[in-house]
Amino acid sequence: MSFSVSEKAAIVSIWKKASGDTETLGAEALERLFLSFPQTKTYFSRFDLSHNSADLRTHGGKVLNAIGDAVNHLDNINKTLAPLRDIHAKLNVDPGNFVLLNHAIQITLASHFPNDFTAPVQAAWSKFLAAVTTALTAK
Ligand code: HEM
Repeated sequence: MSFSVSEKAAIVSIWKKASGDTETLGAEALERLFLSFPQTKTYFSRFDLSHNSADLRTHGGKVLNAIGDAVNHLDNINKTLAPLRDIHAKLNVDPGNFVLLNHAIQITLASHFPNDFTAPVQAAWSKFLAAVTTALTAK
């Protein structure tokens, strides 16, 4: 998947804002995922899933930092995320769950950056997160 110049600018501009607080944003995205789609909690049985818990913050930070890695390699997302793809394949994560997390991430970004997350910016993020999903589920 390739991105236009304006799509790349939209993806990078939101990431510049989000990268300063990856644990807060990641924890919120996970909380939204688990509240809206409770079946996704089954993968995280050993986590404390209470609001803004240390587990949510630590894991949310890891998830968002991996997304940042992809932002920094927009022309090479598949190769960049290959190690994580192998980890998720071993965890047997159903690919449908990635779509649910992508929604939760977009809603989190929209609520934190309402003036920046315009419709065209969201469209670029939607395409970008779909590319991340493809990279992570290619096995
Ligand atoms: C945007 C999509 C996603 C990204 C960027 C992502 C990123 C990550 C990262 C960075 C880790 C840590 C890997 C390590 O230990 O080195 C991880 C682990 C994990 N991920 Fe994902 N993930 C994504 C989607 C999902 C989804 C949709 C699920 C299931 C609903 C999931 C379930 C897990 C589980 C269960 C672990 C292991 C957690 C643990 O026990 O520490 N991931 N993921």
